[in-house]
Amino acid sequence: MNIDLYERIWMWAAVAIVAVFLTAIGVSTFAYAVRPPSHMETIDPATVMQDPRFATPGVTILPDGSVHVTMIAMTFAFLPNEVHVPVGHPVTFRITSMDVTHGFEIAGTNANTMVVPGYISQFTYTFREPGERLVVCNEYCGVGHHTMQGKVIVDPAGPAPAGTPAVTP
Ligand code: CUA
Repeated sequence: MNIDLYERIWMWAAVAIVAVFLTAIGVSTFAYAVRPPSHMETIDPATVMQDPRFATPGVTILPDGSVHVTMIAMTFAFLPNEVHVPVGHPVTFRITSMDVTHGFEIAGTNANTMVVPGYISQFTYTFREPGERLVVCNEYCGVGHHTMQGKVIVDPAGPAPAGTPAVTP
C-alpha cells in the first residue's frame, strides 16, 4: 500500500501527540499526585447523619485553634445553610452529599469543589475581607438546583479564640 510521504508524516505526528498527552496524564497522576480537591476520604451516603464526622454539622474550633466547617449537601439545600467564620484565619471546609453530586462554590472566591456522594470534599480557604459570601451549587442536581444556596458570613476581626493561628494578609 502506498502512503504519501506527507500523509505518513501527519499520521506519525498524530501518534506522537497522543503519546505526549498520555505521558502528561501519567506524570501528573503518578509523579505529582494531581487529584481532585479532596483527600479521598470516603463515607456511606446513606448514613451521613449518623456518621460522627457529620453528626453535628456547622462550625467547630478545634483545640489547636483551627476552624473547621462541616456541611452536608442534599437536594436542594446545604446543612447548615449559613455559617459564620473569622476573617484572616484558615478555614477548612469538609463537605459531603447525602444523595447526588452537588457543587460547592463560594461566589467571588476560588473556593470551589464538587461534592460527590460517598466522598468527603475538603479544602482550606482564608477569607481576607469580612462580609457576606453567597454559596451556590454549581453541579446540576435536579429541578431545584437553581434554588440550592447558602451563605458564609465572614466576621470582622474580633478577639481571636485562644491559640488561634493568626495569618498575615
Ligand atoms: Cu445541588 Cu445543584
